[in-house]
Amino acid sequence: MAATFDVGRGIFTLTTRNTTYQMMADSFGYLLHLYYGAKTAGFTDWGLTFADRGFSGSPYELGRDRTYSLDALPQEFPTQGTGDYRSPMLVVRDSEGTCGADLHYVSHEITEGKYSLPGLPAVYANPGEEAQTLAITLRNERLGLNVRLLYGVIPDKDIITRSVIVSNNGEKAFTVQKLYSSCLDFTHGDFDLITFYGRHAFERQYQRHNLKHGIFSVGSRRGMSSHQYSPFIILAGHDATESHGRCWGMHFVYSGGFCAEAEHDQYRQTRLIMGLAQDKFSYELEPGEEITGPEVIMTFSSEGLGKLSHSFHACIRENICRGKFRDSPRPVILNTWEALYFDFDGRKILDVAESAKALGVDMLVLDDGWFMNRNDDFRALGDWKADEAKLGCTLSELVNKVKSIGLDFGIWVEPEMISEDSELYRGHRDWAMVIPGEKPVLARNQLVLDLSRRDVREYIIQSMRGILNEGVTYLKWDYNRSIAELYSHEGSNGKLAYKYILGLYEILERITSEYPGVLIEGCAGGGGRFDAGMLYYTPQIWCSDNTDAVDRLSIHYGTSFGFPMSAVAAHVSTCPNHQTGRITPLSTRYTVSMTGAFGYELDPLKLTDDERREISRQIQQYKVDREIITSGLYYRLSRPEDINRYCAWEYVSQDGSKALINAVIPQNHGNMPVIYITPRGLTHGAFYRDIQTGETYPADALMDSGFPLDMPKSDCESFTLRLERV
Ligand code: DGJ
Repeated sequence: MAATFDVGRGIFTLTTRNTTYQMMADSFGYLLHLYYGAKTAGFTDWGLTFADRGFSGSPYELGRDRTYSLDALPQEFPTQGTGDYRSPMLVVRDSEGTCGADLHYVSHEITEGKYSLPGLPAVYANPGEEAQTLAITLRNERLGLNVRLLYGVIPDKDIITRSVIVSNNGEKAFTVQKLYSSCLDFTHGDFDLITFYGRHAFERQYQRHNLKHGIFSVGSRRGMSSHQYSPFIILAGHDATESHGRCWGMHFVYSGGFCAEAEHDQYRQTRLIMGLAQDKFSYELEPGEEITGPEVIMTFSSEGLGKLSHSFHACIRENICRGKFRDSPRPVILNTWEALYFDFDGRKILDVAESAKALGVDMLVLDDGWFMNRNDDFRALGDWKADEAKLGCTLSELVNKVKSIGLDFGIWVEPEMISEDSELYRGHRDWAMVIPGEKPVLARNQLVLDLSRRDVREYIIQSMRGILNEGVTYLKWDYNRSIAELYSHEGSNGKLAYKYILGLYEILERITSEYPGVLIEGCAGGGGRFDAGMLYYTPQIWCSDNTDAVDRLSIHYGTSFGFPMSAVAAHVSTCPNHQTGRITPLSTRYTVSMTGAFGYELDPLKLTDDERREISRQIQQYKVDREIITSGLYYRLSRPEDINRYCAWEYVSQDGSKALINAVIPQNHGNMPVIYITPRGLTHGAFYRDIQTGETYPADALMDSGFPLDMPKSDCESFTLRLERV
């Protein structure tokens, strides 16, 4: 059993292949966290300590006993007003404005299968895959407030999930001011915190620092998970490396604002919590109402960061992503954005399609600029009708023409937005989130639609049907600004940020179930909404608007800690690069873009014959390697401090019989030291043949001391080694 309860001790145990999680409902009814670490038998309540702690309050029931304080004990669901002064997961304000809700254990239930969350994305168990759910109910009598803590266990993947449902079972309304979904309390230990920061066109940069006393937090107030901080964090022992040491990860399955806090307190205890952003959040619950905190996926690894990433990769790939394209090969794409921007007509699109077809591309994706009046980014968002004058035909005729060339047809949309200069805005000004009496905040000249409204959601779904019914089999679903104003003409503005995301998920759920054959690529000005919530609906996401091969190294590096490469959309673009002006070899652009969602974003009509031949070879090779890239085990072979010198990564097939190793040396220097790459994950004792040269190497020596890269002859050279076990 993955979830058990020991009645005598009040201890809950969650067990996965390599980990154990324990908590205890103690004699006062408090739910104390005991352990999350390497798999163990027995109980771990001996780890709790009790002492008289000055200025740390005790529950009233203890009378004169001052040795029990929630300020010093590890908890599962810390709330405000209990004498625990660390950061809480729940803050509730009653109708008089009083905050505080002491929660006590009431009951629990263990069921087979993994829970799901109505209206929210969540990890699911596959048919035949072992999974269990533990639901623990806590209660505050004064408010009639019930909390249902949900724990999901997928033992074979070393995954434990958490979510929480807060409900008002009382007689008066109260307001939820803060709601987090997951907490890990550590009674001792010094840790590093790893987070991923960035900006538009430079997302998910790795940052690791020693956690000191105080609170360090990352999050997003932007209504989207954001370019600036990823909703994914890791706590690691100081000595944790890629292949050694203890580390814990939390991954938020949510696409809106979030916050993650790491607190190192007075007693050198550490608390890691994650949940909904508090900013502009104020969620009133009338009697009978409830709110669900989105899911957090957790894993623990005692074998370093590489293993932690493998657990998250497998979970996201197989238990979050859904639909036909979860497992089937993704098409090689030619996207028109960096090739043509807004400057095209129907003839040009067909010429590009013919040229792309000859290269071996599978699908043409017509990016922004195809609908009425959309010749720049000042107008027309919301008016999803093809510009037939520009295209020279209807959308369905264009789709059919491209199909007759032998390519599938995909198209760009940005359904959540509205331009002031649009038919939609002229007809429905109240659909935009603008605060009456204030001037709207414009970003990329556009406003955000109020997705909490049913009529808006219906309009978007109907507009997408209008496009998909023309034979389009792929949508690039873009989102090019953050939310600044939360205002709905239908009210409830404290709920709006959350309801917006629920509205988005409803739209995506309905479209993906109505059109199961359609592949949707997520996008938000590149990787501004690169999160596990979006991946539930869109199995791949445009990773960054930055297509420069050198900048993409650190973007892919950071992304790979939490996300599988099958989710990462990356395209070979032209040189000089449009974002950085850098010139890199076509071969290096290919090596870096060779991920699970690969394509080109350049004008094929402008290629030289040599480039055309090289691209044809690349596409053929990609189709050979695609399987290992999308379903193999991914290893980072360089450390963050190495990246400016070299960046190397490896894919190993699940059975260990094949490996694909890539490396890029961004800068060449005079008389350079030789760079050695040390692969991992090969079969001990086995020999591997270099497919290209036929040379054979012992796996153990390769994994121990590495192999030398050839000396580069210029900047930005890349190297690929394909190994096969003999
Ligand atoms: C932002 C995206 O990230 C780009 O790839 C492109 O689709 C533009 N939007 C189009 O407006």
